[in-house]
Amino acid sequence: MAVLIIFHLLAIFVPALGDAFIGVNIGTDVTNMPSPTEVVALLKAQGIQYVRLYDADRAMLRALANTGIRVIVSVPNDQLLGIGQSNATAAIWVARNVIAHVPATNITAIAVGSEVLTSLPNAAPVLVPALKFLQAALVAANLDQQIKVSTPHSSFIILDSFPPSQAFFNKTWDPVMVPLLNFLQSTGSYLMLNVYPYYDFMQPNAVIPLDYALFRPLPPNKEAIDSNTMLHYTNVFDAVVDAAYFAMSYLNFTNIPILVTESGWPSKGDSSEPDATIDNANTYNSNLIRHVLNNSGTPKQPGISVSTYIYELYNEDLRTGPVSENNWGLFYANGAPVYTLHLSNAGTIFANDTTNQTFCVAKSNADTKMLQAALDWACGPGKVDCSPLLQGQPCYDPNTVDAHATYAINAYYQKMAKSAGTCDFKGVASVTTTNPSHGSCIFPGSRGKNGSSTNGTALAPSTNSTNSGCLSQYYNGGPLTSSLILTLILSVAVL
Ligand SMILES: *[C@@H]1O[C@H](CO)[C@@H](O)[C@H](O)[C@H]1NC(C)=O
Ligand SMILES: *[C@@H]1O[C@H](CO)[C@@H](O)[C@H](O)[C@H]1NC(C)=O
Ligand SMILES: *[C@@H]1O[C@H](CO)[C@@H](O)[C@H](O)[C@H]1NC(C)=O
Ligand SMILES: *[C@@H]1O[C@H](CO)[C@@H](O)[C@H](O)[C@H]1NC(C)=O
Ligand SMILES: *[C@@H]1O[C@H](CO)[C@@H](O)[C@H](O)[C@H]1NC(C)=O
Ligand SMILES: *[C@@H]1O[C@H](CO)[C@@H](O)[C@H](O)[C@H]1NC(C)=O
Ligand SMILES: *[C@@H]1O[C@H](CO)[C@@H](O)[C@H](O)[C@H]1NC(C)=O
Ligand SMILES: *[C@@H]1O[C@H](CO)[C@@H](O)[C@H](O)[C@H]1NC(C)=O
Ligand SMILES: *[C@@H]1O[C@H](CO)[C@@H](O)[C@H](O)[C@H]1NC(C)=O
Ligand SMILES: *[C@@H]1O[C@H](CO)[C@@H](O)[C@H](O)[C@H]1NC(C)=O
Repeated sequence: MAVLIIFHLLAIFVPALGDAFIGVNIGTDVTNMPSPTEVVALLKAQGIQYVRLYDADRAMLRALANTGIRVIVSVPNDQLLGIGQSNATAAIWVARNVIAHVPATNITAIAVGSEVLTSLPNAAPVLVPALKFLQAALVAANLDQQIKVSTPHSSFIILDSFPPSQAFFNKTWDPVMVPLLNFLQSTGSYLMLNVYPYYDFMQPNAVIPLDYALFRPLPPNKEAIDSNTMLHYTNVFDAVVDAAYFAMSYLNFTNIPILVTESGWPSKGDSSEPDATIDNANTYNSNLIRHVLNNSGTPKQPGISVSTYIYELYNEDLRTGPVSENNWGLFYANGAPVYTLHLSNAGTIFANDTTNQTFCVAKSNADTKMLQAALDWACGPGKVDCSPLLQGQPCYDPNTVDAHATYAINAYYQKMAKSAGTCDFKGVASVTTTNPSHGSCIFPGSRGKNGSSTNGTALAPSTNSTNSGCLSQYYNGGPLTSSLILTLILSVAVL
C-alpha cells in the first residue's frame, strides 16, 4: 500500500493546452432537426466556438465552413469495425470526411467511436488499429499537427475513483488502454473522457450529496478530502477528472491531457429521476461553464485547463430510454432555450442572462406540515411582509400551503439578501432560477422590466398584518389546517 501511495504522488507533467474552452455536442435524434444553416445560426448567436458532431455529416460540415467554429468529427460506432480492419477504408474515410472539408471547415479532432469499451466491447480489439489507420491517413495528408485522433471513454472504465489518487482503469481493458495511451502520448493527442456527475449521483449505492455533484458550495465538514494527497475536492467533476489523471499515471502515463467530450445534466426525467430538473440542469451547466472557463484546472493539476463539451445542444426527442434521455439539451429544436443559463460574468458564450435572479421555493415533495410551519415562521418571527397572501390580495391564489409558503420563504430569502443558509427551512426549501411570479403576484427578487428590483413593498395592501400570532391568516382552508393551527398556537403559547 505504501508503495502504491508513493507511486501515486509522483509528479505529473501534463502539457497545458492553452485557455480552456466550452464546446457543445450536437446530437441529431430530433424530430424536426433544424437545417445545418439554422444550427450554425444558433451557434453564432450563442457565441459557441467549439462543437462535436457524432458523425461527419457533409451538409453540416459545409455549413460550418468559414465560420471560425472548431469541429470534432466522429466515426460512429457502426463504422468502427470497417476502419479498424482496413487502412484503406480508414484512408477513404479521412479523404471524404476530413480532407474534403479542411481548411474551410476547421476540423480539430476525430473522435473514434463513442464509449467503445463500455458500449461496444466486441469492437475493442480494433479500436487502437482504427486510431492508427486514421492517424496514418492524416500524416499522409500532412494534417496530423492540426487534427488529433482519440476516442471518447465513459468514466465508468475508471474504478475506485474516490479517493482519486487510488483510481485505476478497469484492468480488463489494460490490453487496450496501454497501447491507446502510448498512441495518445506519441501523437500529442488527449484522453477524451465523458464526465457525468449526474450518473455518479444516480448510482444505487452512491453517497454523493447533490450539492457536490452540482458544484454548489459545501460546508467544510462535507468537503471530500483525498487522504493520500490531502487534496480537497469541492465537486464531483474535478474528482472524476483527477481520477483519470491518476489512472493514467498508474500505467505510467503522466503527460497526456484530458479533454472532456461530454458533460451535462438532464432538465427533465421520469418518476425515478427526481433530480433531473430544470433548476439542477441550469445550476450544473452554469457552474460547469464558469468552472471550466475560470481555467483553474483540478486540485491535482491546478492551472491545467480541462476544456469541456456540454451534452448537448438540442433536446433529442427521438432517443429511447428514460425520459431524461430526451432532455439533456440546452435548446429545443426550434432554437428556444430550455432554460437561460446564469452566466452574467462568465464570458461571451451563452452570456445572455444579465438578471442573475434566484428565488427560494418550497420543494415539490415537501411535507405540508413542515411547509405550514415555514410559512408561519417567515410571516411571524421572520418578519416578512406576508400581506400579499391575504384574501383579495395578488398572491392569495392559489390558496394552498405550497404556494403561500413559497411566497413567504422567498420573501425571507430575498430580505436576507439571499445569504447562505436562508433558503433551507429544515430542508423543505430550495433555490431556483425560475421566477415563481404569476399574474399580478410579483415575487420579491423579481426584476422589473427596467431592471430594478421589486421588494414586494410595492404590493403593500390596505390590510394591516402586524398580528403574527394569528397564524391562520396567510392560509385559510385546506383539510389539515385546523389541527395544525391548534398545534402551532399551543406551541406558541408554551413559548
Ligand atoms: C443572445 O444574445 C445574442 C446577442 O445579443 C442574440 O443575438 C441572441 O438572439 C440571444 N439569444 C437568446 C436565446 O436570447
Ligand atoms: C496499408 O498498409 C499497407 C501495409 O503496411 C501499406 O502498404 C499500404 O500503403 C497502406 N495503405 C494505405 C491506404 O495507407
Ligand atoms: C482552427 O482551430 C485551431 C484550434 O483552435 C486554431 O489554432 C486555428 O487558428 C484555427 N484555424 C483557422 C483557419 O481558423
Ligand atoms: C471491468 O470490465 C469488465 C468488462 O467490461 C466487466 O465485466 C467488469 O464488470 C468490470 N469491472 C468492474 C469492477 O466494473
Ligand atoms: C511503471 O513504472 C515503474 C517504475 O519504472 C515500474 O516499476 C512499473 O512496473 C511500471 N508500471 C507499468 C504498468 O508499466
Ligand atoms: C477561479 O480560479 C481562482 C484561481 O485559479 C480560484 O481561486 C477561484 O476559486 C476560482 N473560482 C471558481 C468559481 O472556480
Ligand atoms: C450572480 O449571483 C451569484 C450568486 O448569487 C453572485 O456570486 C454574483 O456576484 C452575481 N452576479 C451579478 C452580476 O450580480
Ligand atoms: C424602474 O422601476 C422603479 C420601480 O418601479 C422606478 O422607481 C424607476 O423609476 C424605474 N426606472 C426607469 C428608468 O424606468
Ligand atoms: C426596496 O427596498 C429598498 C430597501 O428597503 C428600498 O430602498 C427600495 O426603494 C425598495 N424598492 C422598491 C421598488 O420598492
Ligand atoms: C397597523 O396597525 C398598527 C396597530 O394597530 C398601526 O399602528 C399601524 O399604523 C397599522 N399600519 C397600517 C399600514 O395600517
